[in-house]
Amino acid sequence: MELCVALDLPSQKENLALAESLKGYDIWMKVGFRAYIRDGKAFIQALKAINPKFKIFLDLKLYDIPNTMADASEEIAKLGVDMFNIHASAGSVAMKTVMDRLSSYENRPLVLAVTALTSFDESHFKEVYEKGIQSKAEQFAKMSYAQGLDGVVCSTFESRAIKEATSQKFLTLCPAIRPFGEEAGDQERVATLELAEQEGVDYPVIGRPIYNDSHPAQKVAEILKVLSTL
Ligand code: C5P
Repeated sequence: MELCVALDLPSQKENLALAESLKGYDIWMKVGFRAYIRDGKAFIQALKAINPKFKIFLDLKLYDIPNTMADASEEIAKLGVDMFNIHASAGSVAMKTVMDRLSSYENRPLVLAVTALTSFDESHFKEVYEKGIQSKAEQFAKMSYAQGLDGVVCSTFESRAIKEATSQKFLTLCPAIRPFGEEAGDQERVATLELAEQEGVDYPVIGRPIYNDSHPAQKVAEILKVLSTL
């Protein structure tokens, strides 16, 4: 598994200080809505300047009409990030249009589709999608796989079934990981690193348990130590 740290702090200064403290680790950095809307392209460049081996996951969860999504995906590819995501519920035409558009890029970023947000519980998920999380996430994953995406964002609890329904090589990126029993916050379906490993997760995403810790770099070292033993 490759650790992905969510940079969700209130200011660019704090995010960069966090990245600086983690520069000794060649890990993934997740840039989400908050940071990208506020700090944009310069923030991505600043992260790469701190450690050129940081891999960047731009978590903007695109959802729009196919052509608009493809236009945005192309701009994202030009930013030089390593991975980004779109919503699977945008549909298979949108997925195909995005992948077709990126096909001319030699080093295109990995493209993942969001299945079910990990903050959903079963009843609130059904309110929107009229199906249970597990079956809908699997359906979204099969659609994404069929359109040539690289993987999906899901919870640890769907990872194994998704790989069985698609391919073991189809990537799963899973937020809501609580390595040492930290508070779940607004996340519903939280898992440990051990469970994530058992369920075949490729990228565990961890935010608050790292950046709310008084010693984030030490916390990352502890997490990487656990990962190396799994
Ligand atoms: O702080 P925490 O570890 O819960 O952070 C999880 C991160 O993963 C947040 O940045 C959140 O936006 C993101 N995320 C998520 N669920 C998804 C996709 C992304 O929690 N399905």
